[in-house]
Amino acid sequence: MKPTIIAIDGPAASGKSTIGAGLARKLDYLYFDTGVMYRAVTWAALEQGLDISQEAAVTKLTESLSIDVKPPSQTDGRQYDVLCDGVDVTWAIRSPEVDAHVSPVSVYPGVRSALTAQQRRIGLRGNVVMVGRDIGTVVLPEAPLKIYLDASAEERAWRRYAEVQARGDRSQTYEDILANVKSRDAIDSRRATAPLKAAPDAVIIDSTGLSIEEVIAQVEDLIVQEP
Ligand code: DC
Repeated sequence: MKPTIIAIDGPAASGKSTIGAGLARKLDYLYFDTGVMYRAVTWAALEQGLDISQEAAVTKLTESLSIDVKPPSQTDGRQYDVLCDGVDVTWAIRSPEVDAHVSPVSVYPGVRSALTAQQRRIGLRGNVVMVGRDIGTVVLPEAPLKIYLDASAEERAWRRYAEVQARGDRSQTYEDILANVKSRDAIDSRRATAPLKAAPDAVIIDSTGLSIEEVIAQVEDLIVQEP
């Protein structure tokens, strides 16, 4: 039996989205990257000139926003469209400004509970690969297959740097990206609500030195082993 819900968690740039999207394509499942929701809230808060440290205002904004993920409308390398109140923010949510502010936003319990409820509703429909930080621990603890994907901070920063360069973005150095990866790791794993950690029954895969295909093959082996 194929598991109908596959949860993939792990730190920033650990390859979750590449692996998750590849796996979903092979299984013909919905791929859902929950990080885009935290990023869309952060983008909207910055766009409206909110002070990110104002928890109540950021939470209120989250509760009023309509965030949608749809099949890609353009062939510019995107895996999907992200719409925030109808505005296409697919690339805007990947900016260095959003990178710098998204972890503090995702610390707020009110932001998390609003987004977690939506994610859980989507996940429980099944046939889904859901990717994030707390999918196996909080959003869908009943997922029959949980993967925790890890890699060294340096390798993750190199991968993200290569992605940014491939998009033609020359504004960030490798050192900038490494610093951001380390700072997000620290905030994501130390926060009180739903911190980044492997669920007790998650399979931990360290992808340092492995190719995308090798990691997908390891996950596929786990799917075959499912009773
Ligand atoms: O996966 P990502 O880099 O796009 O995630 C952006 C931020 O969102 C990350 O720093 C932490 C937060 N996040 C979270 O707290 N819980 C999730 N399920 C997904 C992302």
